[in-house]
Amino acid sequence: MIPDSFIQELLDRVDIVDVIQRYVPLKKAGANYSACCPFHSEKSPSFTVSPTKQFYHCFGCGAHGSAIGFIMAHQGLGFIDAVEELAGNLGLTVPNEGRQQNPQYAEKKASLTELMARAARYYKDQLKASPRAIDYLKGRGLTGEIAARFGLGYAPDAWQGLESIFNDYKAPELGTVGLVIDNEQGRRYDRFRDRIMFPILDARSNVIGFGGRIINPEDTPKYMNSPETPLFDKGRELYGLTQARQAIRDTDTVIVVEGYMDVVALAQHGVGNAVATLGTATTGDHIHKLMRQAEKIVFCFDGDKAGRKAAWRALENSLPHLADDHSIGFLFLPPEHDPDSYVREHGAAGFQKLAAHPTSLPEFLLRELANPVDTNTVEGRARLVHEAKPLITQIAAPLLRLQILKELASMSGLTQAEIENQYGLKPAAAPNRRAPPAPRSRPSARPLEHTLLEIVLQQPAWASRLPLELIPDTSPEAATLHALANSLEHGELPIGGIGLLLEHFRNTPHEAVISRFASQLAEDIDPSEQETVLNDAIERIRNAGIGQEIAALTARARSGTLDADEQQRLMDLLRRKNSYKPMASS
Ligand code: GTP
Ligand code: MN
Repeated sequence: MIPDSFIQELLDRVDIVDVIQRYVPLKKAGANYSACCPFHSEKSPSFTVSPTKQFYHCFGCGAHGSAIGFIMAHQGLGFIDAVEELAGNLGLTVPNEGRQQNPQYAEKKASLTELMARAARYYKDQLKASPRAIDYLKGRGLTGEIAARFGLGYAPDAWQGLESIFNDYKAPELGTVGLVIDNEQGRRYDRFRDRIMFPILDARSNVIGFGGRIINPEDTPKYMNSPETPLFDKGRELYGLTQARQAIRDTDTVIVVEGYMDVVALAQHGVGNAVATLGTATTGDHIHKLMRQAEKIVFCFDGDKAGRKAAWRALENSLPHLADDHSIGFLFLPPEHDPDSYVREHGAAGFQKLAAHPTSLPEFLLRELANPVDTNTVEGRARLVHEAKPLITQIAAPLLRLQILKELASMSGLTQAEIENQYGLKPAAAPNRRAPPAPRSRPSARPLEHTLLEIVLQQPAWASRLPLELIPDTSPEAATLHALANSLEHGELPIGGIGLLLEHFRNTPHEAVISRFASQLAEDIDPSEQETVLNDAIERIRNAGIGQEIAALTARARSGTLDADEQQRLMDLLRRKNSYKPMASS
């Protein structure tokens, strides 16, 4: 949706050192900057930022990327949000080719956000002025400090309370952001009345919505949320994420609960890494977002039947997003508890003890599937395998899937291969035990494409010198070389460091290749040396190419099928080959 040219302009203008400096204190170390890595805990600095490459890399944990990648990883933002964040700092407006062509869109959005901020301030002030609302929060065990941290407020018991802060209470924008409701008679009134207000923030701490809880137990509904608005997309947002970010990073764990009060109460007791979905089921978007925050995700839903159902929905929606380097667990509280009541009764330590040993996803999956069937009968076991199919086949993470298949095999009395066969799954590649790989003629030789790629990534303009016709794109590295040369030829290749290249190829197969090489390039090769290495590699490829052509032509010459042109070609080749110095063997 964001045009490539904009990303390049952005990365041209942004300096990765400035960007990272804002979050991590960097020290100059030679040509680069270094710091203790913000992505893992360490005592001596192995995190380096290269201004020339516009690239960061950690030797300790391997984290690496461009300025955009850094913002994504560090702030837990998606690509578009990270771009917007960087652009905002430079005063650039992100053009949007898809959804919103409207140039006033960003401005409009900003003015809607401003309305929400004013409303939030108003609700906060009203809370201070309402002993009844304060008593309610105190009664639920919350201190003023935690109320301030979550920006809690109070919407007074008045039909047009917001009229006192908005000069134009009739403005359509107030309806757009869901602060007011227009009834059938055209009368307008505040959506939230006599409720405790929970502002919902986006990643940049803008208020994008509210949840409001009744104080008077007679009122209904118990909770009321902002409707979906241009600012607020319930299926993507998580309540409390902004406040939880630091604790999530510290523990590499994010706890997902059902309610606003659960998040706030956990934080009150010192469990700061909890977030809540907003009265909706956990969506795939949520899972995606959660996986960017931490390695471990723990769903902790109420102990009742509804809670179990919610957990199952979360499981179903997470299957396509599972990754082998993440774990998803489920915590089931005793039926009479929710996280709020549990932490109040058992304290942070009690809750943490429980949270440390959640039911793993495979365990929960198979347990729930096996629950309604009788695995002592043949029919029951067949049914189990049948019911599991649509779920297991969605799992893309190979190790996790394997683990579940193995377990299912033992439960059903089938072999793993039989189940895979039933499911139409390709069995995971078995290690080849038959023969050791044929020894390479020169075991220590590195494929030439790798050498070329290493150089071209540092000197993208040299991509034009590659003898592409002699580099068949049969490996990922060779394909990337072709793509680099191709982009360069079309004048699209950004020059200005590997960070830019990485963004240019984001969401293509080349991204992973470049990223892998970029991390190995931590030590700069001297530019004059690069030139020699490149020439040498090109020469070897030419030689190898000539060698193959000579061999083919010679074979045909022997069978007497060479025409005059071909004979000439063979002679030329032989002459060219002999003019090369013999290669230094490596
Ligand atoms: P407390 O009673 O304040 O402790 O809240 P809770 O979090 O224990 O409430 P519950 O488990 O009933 O609800 C969990 C979440 O579901 C809430 O935080 C809301 O987001 C949502 N929710 C609950 N009740 C309603 C309702 O009546 N309407 C809507 N739209 N959402 C609700
Ligand atoms: Mn509760």
